[in-house]
Amino acid sequence: MKCFYCDFTAFSGQNAAADRYVAAVLAEADLYPKTAVDTLYVGGGTPTELSASQLTALLGGLASRFGPLSALREATVEASPESASEDRLDALADAGVGRLSLGLQTASDRLLKTVGRSHTFSDFKRVFRSARRRGFSLNVDLMQGLPGQSLKDVGADLDAVLGLDPDHLSIYTLQVEDRTLFAKREVELDPDFARDAMDETLGRLAAAGFRHYEVSNWAKPGREAVHNVGYWIDRPGLGLGCGASGYLDGVRYENEDRLKNYLEAVERGRRPVFSAERLEGKARLGETLMLRLRLVEGLSLTPQMQLAFRPELDALTARGLLELVGGGCSECLPTLRLTREGLFLANEVFREFVPPFDEHDRRQTRETK
Ligand SMILES: C[S@@+](CC[C@H](N)C(=O)[O-])C[C@H]1O[C@@H](n2cnc3c(N)ncnc32)[C@H](O)[C@@H]1O
Repeated sequence: MKCFYCDFTAFSGQNAAADRYVAAVLAEADLYPKTAVDTLYVGGGTPTELSASQLTALLGGLASRFGPLSALREATVEASPESASEDRLDALADAGVGRLSLGLQTASDRLLKTVGRSHTFSDFKRVFRSARRRGFSLNVDLMQGLPGQSLKDVGADLDAVLGLDPDHLSIYTLQVEDRTLFAKREVELDPDFARDAMDETLGRLAAAGFRHYEVSNWAKPGREAVHNVGYWIDRPGLGLGCGASGYLDGVRYENEDRLKNYLEAVERGRRPVFSAERLEGKARLGETLMLRLRLVEGLSLTPQMQLAFRPELDALTARGLLELVGGGCSECLPTLRLTREGLFLANEVFREFVPPFDEHDRRQTRETK
């Protein structure tokens, strides 16, 4: 069953297609020139829905193409507490995966039911400890702003998770996405609650020795997600699989997100790309700004960026969402970063750097949606 907030690509009742899917992902890799890979991320969903032998086939196939996973700078697999069984954890460890990202969302059994999760917090703890015994570096995903969640619940979630001693935490404010059960139920978000929850989180995690390094991510020193940071600093990446996205030779592409179309394309020897775009000029600069601003340390603001986005930068700075620091000497560039308020309203900031840039075009895009 899909979680009530989730709009990620997912299929039910297609277990029979899983072997075919694994073979297709590996065949898709062969449709690209050999690339040197130094990080691997299997996720954006729940890969541990595959069986242990399918995971072994997938990861073994990737290793034979890109080199042993244990030799990569980082190899992460996402997992849900329901599916991360002992045999699957063994398969991941044997394949050389060093990092697991576990979706918990909340430690409250009442709220887990509210969001459509079928595991309890004790199920999660069992999986977490089992993964820990195998030596994985561990991330835990939490969500805030869930229907019926109080600030006390947020504090209790943080206490419960910190008690397990994870290496990394990803904490997301609920977004009500179209085509989800929450959208159908017209779940409403409370920005004041999100702000209070984030305040509580920033304080608690700093006190527990976690560094806030990206809008939604905290890490113990040296445990930052190398692969994800690569995405935020615009490093190229090969994206494989149904609904995957990638960035190669200056082109961002997205794959088919319909399983049938994806499988058919790959099996005919065609790259299953649905859309591809080479970003240039202002769009390119805007994307770099938007991605790098996700990092709490911000970015060095180049004169080209300043020139291209002067009105947006002035307006966001005047609203107290962005700040410019340093840049006092003739050779050094100022650092642009989100303020604390900007961290709460990050999506409002990022929107300004994504086309269409003209207010008239923006209004038209909104109206045709
Ligand atoms: C692709 S999901 C992976 C889920 C994980 N494999 C599991 O099932 O436990 C990645 C994370 O994004 C977050 N997420 C997903 N949908 C969200 C939404 N609508 N609003 C906020 N966060 C969301 C959740 O914390 C989730 O664990």
